[in-house]
Amino acid sequence: MSRDYVEDELSRHSVFKSEQFLSVDYVPETLPHRELELRTLAQSFKTLITSPGRTSQKFIVEGPVGTGKTAVTKRFSEQMVQAANRRGIRLHKLHINCRVNKTTNLIYMKMLREFKPMFPRRGHSPAEILQMVLEVLDSEDKYLLLIMDELDYFIRQRGADILYDLTRLMDDRLNAPQRISMIGVGRDISVDESMFDHSILSTLQRNILHFEKYNSEALHDILRDRVVLAFEPNTVMDEALQVISDIASERGDARYAIELLWRAGKQADREGSKAVYPDYVRQAKADTHPELRKEVFTSLPLQTKLLLLAASRHLKEIRSAYATIGEVEDMYHTVCEEYGQEPRAHTQVWQWVQDLSAHGIVDTKRSGQGQRGQTTLIGLSDVPADMLERFLVDLLK
Ligand SMILES: Nc1ncnc2c1ncn2[C@@H]1O[C@H](COP(=O)(O)OP(=O)(O)O)[C@@H](O)[C@H]1O
Ligand SMILES: [Mg+2]
Repeated sequence: MSRDYVEDELSRHSVFKSEQFLSVDYVPETLPHRELELRTLAQSFKTLITSPGRTSQKFIVEGPVGTGKTAVTKRFSEQMVQAANRRGIRLHKLHINCRVNKTTNLIYMKMLREFKPMFPRRGHSPAEILQMVLEVLDSEDKYLLLIMDELDYFIRQRGADILYDLTRLMDDRLNAPQRISMIGVGRDISVDESMFDHSILSTLQRNILHFEKYNSEALHDILRDRVVLAFEPNTVMDEALQVISDIASERGDARYAIELLWRAGKQADREGSKAVYPDYVRQAKADTHPELRKEVFTSLPLQTKLLLLAASRHLKEIRSAYATIGEVEDMYHTVCEEYGQEPRAHTQVWQWVQDLSAHGIVDTKRSGQGQRGQTTLIGLSDVPADMLERFLVDLLK
């Protein structure tokens, strides 16, 4: 009898029940080991509800990647809005990813469009847009809790003017209701003090919430919750969770831990296994790198991805930590041809290198006076060249 591939596929066993609970965008109802942080935010922002319009709150949330900053601020702002609405206060929340919305204009436009969805994108200066935001808030008696996520990246690119403008906007309205409060989120926002005006700095310094890395036990608790949501009963061995928690605790990164769990599950399915064994976790670890975060790389324009592919390919070939920008550009021309794209000029390429450096993806330095003369050297920050190359080729498919 011939084999029925359709029936085969339909009866194939999967360890997963609902994979979507392992996606980075999913924010769980409860966030173990972040109760204290949520409480601190609630204490600081409750005046927005007890005496709306009295003050404008500003807060900084900082900490390493995967420590729950985005998840906590999302969950928190949602609870704020619900509590406000129950009391008849028109509080809106807006979570902006400043890595995607890269300019002041885009950020202000997002704010305005929260209240005027059809407002045309062009034809107004940032200052005008901001003024219109205030007017809408005043005329509709609304309040805004603005969360600027990945703000450290934005500040590295464009400076801290936006914080200054937003703060002054509120300070100038001493006798009118304070309409906008904000939380800035990033890895290390307070570090570069030279960028901030003193008055902002003193306000912000009093309101910094630092998220510590998760230890192995914390990661274990986080994973256990996800297993219940995402996997069929009794398919994930506790030993496997233990291995994941230990690996990811080096960085304290819950995102990485969840990715390892998902990949280990995929491996179990591929091998037709009924359970996720520790060995699948080890394989998952070999297949990925914690710095290879899809969200970050997909936000890069195509040409920048091609340039990065060229850099990783060349660095892999020469087996060296750094390559000159000229060498990378040569490879970039080859890569462009391969992908049917027109290569751009040197000044543009140089700009992209700066951009990748601001993202923390590449390192740049000036070469010494040696045989290569004075030029810019490019290296990869964390990820091995061959792994980055494979990752990008996949992403570009
Ligand atoms: N305390 C927690 N409980 C449950 N899941 C968490 C917790 N902290 C982080 N996560 C999850 O880990 C991943 C990374 O968290 P995220 O908030 O994006 O980190 P960050 O913004 O600090 O880089 C997300 O999928 C998030 O849902
Ligand atoms: Mg985040």
